[in-house]
Parts: sequence; structure tokens; C-alpha cells
Amino acid sequence: MVNIAVFVSGGGTNLQAIIDACERKEINGEIKLVISNRKKAFGLERAKNHNIEARCLKDEDLIIEALKEHKIDLIVLAGYLAIVSEKLINLYPNKIINIHPSLIPSFCGEGFYGIHVHEAAFKRGVKVSGATVHFVSNVVDGGPIILQEAIDISDCLTPEDIQLKILNNIEHKLLVKAVQLFCLNKLNVINERVEII
Ligand code: GRF
Repeated sequence: MVNIAVFVSGGGTNLQAIIDACERKEINGEIKLVISNRKKAFGLERAKNHNIEARCLKDEDLIIEALKEHKIDLIVLAGYLAIVSEKLINLYPNKIINIHPSLIPSFCGEGFYGIHVHEAAFKRGVKVSGATVHFVSNVVDGGPIILQEAIDISDCLTPEDIQLKILNNIEHKLLVKAVQLFCLNKLNVINERVEII
């Protein structure tokens, strides 16, 4: 079983999707720890509701200590809005997964987080957007891409419409699929590209 830590900063619906998938035995892993940089993050409540250790931590050394204490094999960033340091990334090479609510390389990088991603997509007038799950590297949203899925957003009238359509139709299932592939050891990274074996 893979020991999983999930980092959240907000509502935690992606965390909930992983919790539910683990409980349905759809993931060969167990969430041992949920960390947030925001003590009011509802994601912490979601963890507590499922008897998962939930901690508000900002100090990197304390975060690393907690990860080692729980023998974490995989870190999932699910709407985590704090910076992940080079030190942490180097401690967990290709063992940190992030979900980004666009089709990278569109609408990603510095400043593209949360609703800002969808505001940019709406402003550009793209007819298709989606989500990307990728390994975390020292380049923001620049790590090897694991999975992507697109969806028609031509019927969306606001950035919020886009956000909800992608979150509810794409993100939750894509992240669960990526976590399961990792837990089954089916992700090979070769020359910054991910091969699913
Ligand atoms: C999601 O849209 C995710 O793609 C982005 O932040 C949001 C988190 O939503 N990184 P939730 O907290 O999982 O509901």
C-alpha cells in the first residue's frame, strides 16, 4: 500500500475524490496525512471527517518531519496554494503530483491559479479547456505530464462556469486515475515525458 499525503488550501473536493476512491478500494494506497497552509481550509475538515490526520503547517521542516513520520511515498497537491520548495521537491523526485485546471502549457505558470486560470481562458475565448495532472518539478506547472483531459466549454458564460465544469466533470476522476496509476507503479518518467506502462 502506498502512503499518501494530500496538501490542500481550499474546499478540498479533489481531496474528497481521493478519500472516496481509497474507501472504495479503487486506489492501492491510503491517505495518511492531510496538510494545509490555511487553518480554515475545509479540506482539513474533510480529512477529520474520515479520521485522517489533518494538520495546518507552514514551516517546511515541520512538514518534512510529518511526511517522514508517516513514511509518505506520494504527495498530492490538490489546490495547494503555497510554494513547494526545491528542498521538498528534491526529497520526493517524481513523487509529488499536482492537478492544474487547464490543458498545460495553456494558462499555467506564475499567477495562474484558482479562478485566474479560467478568467484567462474565458478572456481568450478558447472553446476547449480541461485539466492536467503532472509531476511537480522546480518549474511551476512545468513537470512531466501524467494525464490530461479536455472538455467543451463553449457553453460557459462566465469563468466560474468553466471552473465548475472542469472541476466536476474532469478534475476529480483524472486525479484519482493518476494516483491509482502511481500506486500501481505504472508511471515511467523518461526524458521529462511520462510513459504509462
Ligand atoms: C482545483 O480547481 C484545482 O485544479 C486547483 O485548485 C482547485 C482546488 O479545488 N489547483 P478543491 O480544493 O480540490 O475543491
